[in-house]
Amino acid sequence: MSLVKLDIYSLRNIQKESFYPTSTINLFYGENGSGKSSIVEAIFILGRAKSFRSHSIKSVISFSDTQLIVSAQLLQSNGNNLNLGVQLDNKNIRCHINHQITKKRSDLAYALPLQIIHPKSYELLDGGPQLRREFLDWGVFHDNENFLTLYSKFKVALNQRNALLKSKQVQHIHVWNKELIYYGTIVNSYRDIYLQKFKPIFLNILKCFFQIENIDLKLLPGWDTTISLEDILLSTLEKDLRYGFTQNGPHRGDFQLTIDDRLVKEVVSRGQLKLFVISLKLAQMQLLLSEQANNGCFLIDDFSAELDIDNREKLLLYLSKMNCQVFITATEISEFGNLNKINNYKMFHVEHGNIKSV
Ligand SMILES: Nc1ncnc2c1ncn2[C@@H]1O[C@H](COP(=O)(O)OP(=O)(O)O)[C@@H](O)[C@H]1O
Ligand SMILES: [Mg+2]
Repeated sequence: MSLVKLDIYSLRNIQKESFYPTSTINLFYGENGSGKSSIVEAIFILGRAKSFRSHSIKSVISFSDTQLIVSAQLLQSNGNNLNLGVQLDNKNIRCHINHQITKKRSDLAYALPLQIIHPKSYELLDGGPQLRREFLDWGVFHDNENFLTLYSKFKVALNQRNALLKSKQVQHIHVWNKELIYYGTIVNSYRDIYLQKFKPIFLNILKCFFQIENIDLKLLPGWDTTISLEDILLSTLEKDLRYGFTQNGPHRGDFQLTIDDRLVKEVVSRGQLKLFVISLKLAQMQLLLSEQANNGCFLIDDFSAELDIDNREKLLLYLSKMNCQVFITATEISEFGNLNKINNYKMFHVEHGNIKSV
C-alpha cells in the first residue's frame, strides 16, 4: 500500500493543498511554522483519526474554518485503489473508506498502518505504561485479526467488574471474573506470542545503531503469572473494593527494556533513548511487512531532533531498504544528510502552508 495522492483542507495553516508522494521516501523541508508537522499530522489523522501532538483533535482545524478534511488515494499491494477520508468539524469526526462512512476507526488503521517518530517519542520508554501498552497492542492488532474482538470483550468484562466494585455490589462479581479471566488470559497470551516474534527483529535492528550487549525485552503481563488470575482476583477483592477498580490484569500490562538488568531509560542518554524507540518502531513495521501483504507508512517529524547526522543517515538508509512509504520533515535540506546513497526519493518544499515538489 502507498499513498498516491493526498488532499488537505483547512488543517492548521494549510488551506487547500494536494500533492503526489512517491511510494518510497518523501522529504519535506521548510522553516519553522511553515506547516511540515501539519502534513505529518494530516497523514496521521487519516490512519488513526486523532492527532499525535494535540490532545483535542479539534484544535487541528484551521482557525479560519469550521471543518477540516483529509483525503487520500491509496494504491494497495493487490493493485486496487482505495480512498480514505476523514472529515472533522466541531462536533463530529466522520471516517470514509471508498466514500462509504465507517464507524470503526480500526478500519482506517487496517487500511493505513502507521508508525510515527516525533520529538516526544522518547516518552514511550520514559513515560507511563499506557503508551507501551498501546505500542504493543498496535503490533498485536496487526498481527492477529482476532485480537480486537477479544480485547473488546475483555474491556466489557473489566468495565462491568469495575462498576460493581465502585457500587460495592459484589454478590455477582464472579460472573464478570469469569469473563475477565477468560478474555484477559487470551489477551496476555497474544501479547506474549507477538513479543516473541518481535524481539529478535528488534535486537537485530538495534545493532545498526548500537554495539551494546545484554539487552533484554520482557513482557510484564499485569499480574503475577506464577499465580492464576482467578486466585489473584479472589485474593485481592478487598483491595479492589477499596480502590474501586481492578488492580490486576492485562489492562496493567507493560513491557520492560533492560541493559544488564537495568532499565534502559536509566542508563542511556536522551538521544540514545530515542534510537531505542526508533528501533522499536522500525521493528514493528518490519514485522508487519514480513507478515502482511499490506505494507505501511513511516512518519518522522523533525528529523534532527536529538539525532546526530551519523544516526540520521543510518536511519534513512535503513528506511530506504524497507518496503514502506516514508515521510520525513526537517527545517533544512542538509539535515537529511548525504542523499547519494538513497535511490529513490521525492523532495518537497513547505512554505506558509503551501507544498511544492522540488
Ligand atoms: N488551528 C490552527 N489554525 C491555523 N494555524 C494554526 C493552527 N494551529 C497552529 N497553526 C499554525 O500553523 C503553522 C504551522 O505549524 P506546524 O505545522 O507545526 O509548522 P512546522 O512543523 O513547519 O514548524 C504555525 O505557524 C502555527 O502557528
Ligand atoms: Mg514541526
